[in-house]
Formats: sequence, structure tokens, C-alpha cells
Amino acid sequence: MNKISIENLTLHYSDGTESLRNITMGIPANQITVLFGPAGGGKSSLLRILNRLNDLADVTYLNGRVLLDEEDILSPKIDVINLRRRVGMVFARPVVLPMSIRQNLTYGLEVAGMKDRYRLDEAVERSLQQAALWNEVQDRLDDPAIALSGGQQQRLCLARVLALEPEVILLDEPTSGLDPISTGKVEESLQELKKTYTIVLVPHSVQQAARTADFAAFFLQGELIEYAANKILFTNPENQKTEDYVEGRFG
Ligand SMILES: Nc1ncnc2c1ncn2[C@@H]1O[C@H](COP(=O)(O)OP(=O)(O)O)[C@@H](O)[C@H]1O
Ligand SMILES: [Mg+2]
Repeated sequence: MNKISIENLTLHYSDGTESLRNITMGIPANQITVLFGPAGGGKSSLLRILNRLNDLADVTYLNGRVLLDEEDILSPKIDVINLRRRVGMVFARPVVLPMSIRQNLTYGLEVAGMKDRYRLDEAVERSLQQAALWNEVQDRLDDPAIALSGGQQQRLCLARVLALEPEVILLDEPTSGLDPISTGKVEESLQELKKTYTIVLVPHSVQQAARTADFAAFFLQGELIEYAANKILFTNPENQKTEDYVEGRFG
């Protein structure tokens, strides 16, 4: 079952760049779908459209449909705040709030009106467990978040999204600044999280794409070149460009 259906999506920015050209693809529920390819391919642009962050960019032309559970999220009638709660985003560089670890996680819930101490505590523990950070921080939840290592801050940003119980998690090169051990922890937690959530990941390398993807989509200069299950795309791709990229012949 597709959680998200992208249909004939085309995007131009005001400088004339055609960043996405007639993209059609389904994003299955409870799987990790990876969007990969060289810089400038349109991966971040597509991710941003999935929670309407493109609203903030200089877009001159956007056409096509993006259905989340059958509802067109590009429609002007959509409640964007609610959409962004259902579809959370984690960026390449972690931006923690200048507050305690605990407050980083409860802030969004309190803004949404949750006051019950018990439920807030429960959300803090659940989200930290899910982001594979609980064991490292459970004894210092009231310390400033900024004191955490880069890898821990990135997992805190993931936990902050999870605290809001989204349905879809978008991650744009979430481990590009991390050491291999932290990267491994994030990748492991994604494998666990897909049981509950639908995950769309832009990896920081082909190797990470191959390690993490259930389904992989290869983007090149705004075009979706090939989209297939991991085993097919990384071992027996149909398109020569996919094969050349996966085998490292261009980058
Ligand atoms: N906010 C923007 N305004 C104008 N052009 C943009 C903007 N964001 C991205 N682009 C252009 O769109 C193309 C795709 O970029 P992007 O989506 O960031 O690709 P990727 O994430 O695959 O590197 C590039 O040519 C880039 O320069
Ligand atoms: Mg990008």
C-alpha cells in the first residue's frame, strides 16, 4: 500500500531551473524509500514538497499531484501545520533548541496543547528510545541539549520529530556530518522505526543507499531515472546510467 503517491510532479524555480521533471512514484507504507543520486538531482526539492517546505522557496511552477492517504497535499485547502505534524523532517545539520534535552522534546507537544506531566514524560522516553538515544541521556535529561555530541544532537532532532508521532519521516542526508558509529546507530534505528512509520531518506552515499533502502529511486538532473526494490536496483539495474552511478563511474 502506498502511503504517498507522487503523480506527474514538475517543479521550476524562479531562476528557470527545472528541478523536477514529471516525477511519478509511489512511496510504500512501512518501508524505507531512498532517493539518491548526484548533487543537484532534485532530491531535496522533492523531500521539501512532501511537507510543503517548498512554500518558503522561490518556486515559479509546480504541477502534478502528491497524495498522502488519497488527499492532495498540494491543494491550497490543506492545513500545512497539521501536514507537517504528520510528515516530519530531519535535516543534514542538527539544529537543537537552546534548551534542555527534555525541553527539546516537549516543546512541540506543549505548543500543541499537551500539559499532562505524565504524558510528556512518556513521550520523552518513547521518542528517545526510538531514536536510540535513551541509554546515553536518561540520567541527564535536564542538561542543555547543546552539550551533546554531534551524533547525539542528530538523534535528538530525530527524537524531536518522533515525539510528535508523525506518520511519515523525511530525512535529508541525516548522517552526513556523523562518525561511522553514530551513523550506524541512526541507520539501525531507521530499521526499527519503519515498523511504525513510513520513511523517506536521502542518503549521503551510494553505500548508505544500498545498506538502508527497501526501495531506491535514482535521480539525475531532475529526472527519476530508475525506481526499484533494493535487490534489483543495486545488483541488476535496468538503466545504464543507474549502473554507471552505482558502480562509481561518475559522481
Ligand atoms: N531554493 C532554490 N531556489 C532556486 N533553485 C534551487 C533551490 N533549491 C534547489 N535549487 C536548484 O534545483 C536543483 C535541484 O536541487 P536540489 O533539490 O537541492 O537537489 P539535490 O538535493 O539532489 O542536490 C539544483 O539545480 C538547484 O540549484
Ligand atoms: Mg540535497
